[in-house]
Formats: sequence, structure tokens, C-alpha cells
Amino acid sequence: MSLIETARNVRENAYAPYSNFKVGAAVKGASGIVYAGCNVENVAYPEGTCAEAGAIAAMIAAGDTRITEVAVIADCPKPVSPCGGCRQKIAEFADGDVVVTLATTGGVVQATTVAALLPDGFDAAHMRNA
Ligand code: THU
Repeated sequence: MSLIETARNVRENAYAPYSNFKVGAAVKGASGIVYAGCNVENVAYPEGTCAEAGAIAAMIAAGDTRITEVAVIADCPKPVSPCGGCRQKIAEFADGDVVVTLATTGGVVQATTVAALLPDGFDAAHMRNA
């Protein structure tokens, strides 16, 4: 199964009663194993979590520590764009050249990279004087 198919399938399980916007994400770990996540909202809105965060949490819990590929899908007019926080979360575990596939449930697919999604991002090098 492709990464985007995994993301499409897990999206069905999203818990999004407040936004009605279901998102599915899949990340491939360096081991080759694919981890899936969906958004999980909460009545206390800021407590909700994004699909990407769920997939990354599953990867880390399983013992993989590096992301080699990412896919995100939602029902949008154009391919879903990861939020700023998720771009930072992905960048924590992925090199800049890692491919991120963004898709609509209708079949529009766009490929980008971690570096393109988060140019000049904050990283450990910025804390060298600390
Ligand atoms: N959401 C994600 O899960 N990932 C994204 O990349 C964009 C937004 C979720 C968060 C919230 O549950 C809903 O989509 C609407 O913002």
C-alpha cells in the first residue's frame, strides 16, 4: 500500500466533530515501517491534535526515530497544507530533502519537501550560545 493510501484509510477514523475536517497522515520510518495518524479533536479546542502529530507519535512510540517520507490527505479543493506546528514537528525527525506528498481525497496530489515547507526553520544550531 502506498503512503497516501495509508493516509487515506486512517483518515476515515479521524475524530473531527467540531471542524468536520478529517485529515489522515502517514510517515515512513527509517526501518521502512509506515505509521498512520488522524486528527483527534476535543471539546476544549486547543487540546485537539493534528493527523501528522498522531503519526509521528506512533513512530516514536514504536522506536523509529527518523522520517524518510510523509503523506497527508484531506477533503480540500487543493492539496492540504500542514499547519506551521506540524511542519516544525516533521522537521524534528526528517532531513530537508524528505518528500512530503500532499493530497486531496479527490485525487489531486502535490509533492514537496520538508525544507520547502519550513524554510529557515528553528533548529538546534540556533541554541549554540545557550
Ligand atoms: N489538521 C490536521 O490534522 N492536519 C493538518 O495538516 C491541517 C489541520 C486538523 C486540525 C483540526 O482537527 C482540523 O484539521 C481543522 O483545522
